[in-house]
Amino acid sequence: MNLDLQLPSQSPLMSPSFIFGVATSSFQIEGSADQRLASIWDAFCETPGKVADNSNGLVACEHVKRFREDVKLLVELGVDAYRFSISWPRVITKNNELNESGIAFYEALIAALSAEGISAFVTLYHWDLPQHLEDKGGWLNRQTVYEYEKYVDKVTARLGDTVASYATFNEPYCSAYLGYEIGVHAPGKTGRLNGRTAAHHILLAHGLGLKAIRKHAKKAKAGIVLNFTPCYPKTNGLSDIQAANNADDYINQWYIKPLFDGCYPSVIDELAEEYRPPIEQGDFDIMQQPLDFLGVNFYTRLTYSAAKDPSELYVEHPHLSPKTDIGWEIYPKALTELLKTLHERYPLPPVFITENGAAMNDKMVNGKVQDSDRIEYFQAHLQALHEAAESGVDIQGYFAWSLMDNFEWAEGYLKRFGLIYVDYATQKRTFKASAHAYKRLIAKRNLAS
Ligand code: NOJ
Repeated sequence: MNLDLQLPSQSPLMSPSFIFGVATSSFQIEGSADQRLASIWDAFCETPGKVADNSNGLVACEHVKRFREDVKLLVELGVDAYRFSISWPRVITKNNELNESGIAFYEALIAALSAEGISAFVTLYHWDLPQHLEDKGGWLNRQTVYEYEKYVDKVTARLGDTVASYATFNEPYCSAYLGYEIGVHAPGKTGRLNGRTAAHHILLAHGLGLKAIRKHAKKAKAGIVLNFTPCYPKTNGLSDIQAANNADDYINQWYIKPLFDGCYPSVIDELAEEYRPPIEQGDFDIMQQPLDFLGVNFYTRLTYSAAKDPSELYVEHPHLSPKTDIGWEIYPKALTELLKTLHERYPLPPVFITENGAAMNDKMVNGKVQDSDRIEYFQAHLQALHEAAESGVDIQGYFAWSLMDNFEWAEGYLKRFGLIYVDYATQKRTFKASAHAYKRLIAKRNLAS
């Protein structure tokens, strides 16, 4: 079977300026942990019961060792851009100086990409906070905001405009809510106030980070990557609609509204005083830096109904079918609706889909992975994106998650999101059928241009 990815030739996504790429992150692929400081994910992996297969990021995909081979894979795919993240604990020493060998790795990677005409889309924080900062409270400590600012200042002073695009943070929701409120991600802390505090500090750090980027990189684009899980009511009843709105405010709008409107969404008024974040005067002005782009990560949606317990804002329901291998509903229509709604609500800068993809139960048979289910997922989401673009949302790029199978956080290596299959025993990389399909789509776009 030779499933293809198809878009109408007149689609805005097929225009020559549209960027197709793939994404990864430092902790998920790099390995070479002996060459950097420990991060909160190292500590989390060592905590029994936190990662499904008790694995860690010490070796991962050995990307630091094999990056030249991996750049060849990007060339083979034909992508315009590669989105990766910089590991803070790899590039900054405990004395707050640049770690020369760490930054040299990223310089070499960027040079190798540039030699092939591939743009570097850099994420400055993809969840791997240095553990020594966590020991002082991590994102619950306002001082971490200033440590982040110093880190960004040093890194962007060095990398400057060799990078096409800088994102201050990847998915603040995951760091704050999953990491500090419900504890299923590092550092595994819990509590509503913790979650809200971490979110506030991360958004503040975003604002200061953005200013630092602009100081050192005049041409590079600066923005942030947010994840959105659209919230739908279980029924058309008013109380379910209200619950879905609350959930949307709490998990989605919380991270975007301050950036455009300079305040938290109204669900904050539903929170008891003791759960509200420590907002200091001027904080929202810092958060509200102009953005050159908004990165949107989209995977799934969720459904909600009214809570019986008045202290709860909503009840979240299990994912509906059809689902991917990680248990997330496949519901591409939500991507179109999300983008249209964001476009109506906020004065959006150009939008990049900085992540979209699916974990599937891949099987290597006779040296091949026929992941037609993943191709179908991509096809449906590219079509949904095309519809949003046709309706007037300015979408300038799309990054598939992920270049290759990697460490999927609390799921360890059990869930595979890659276009490229990784045999962890040998580190052999093999193009899946989806990688071939993506390559053909990109090539078609180039032919059309
Ligand atoms: C979002 C995260 O940015 C990425 O690290 C993760 O692997 C994917 N989603 C899939 O869960």
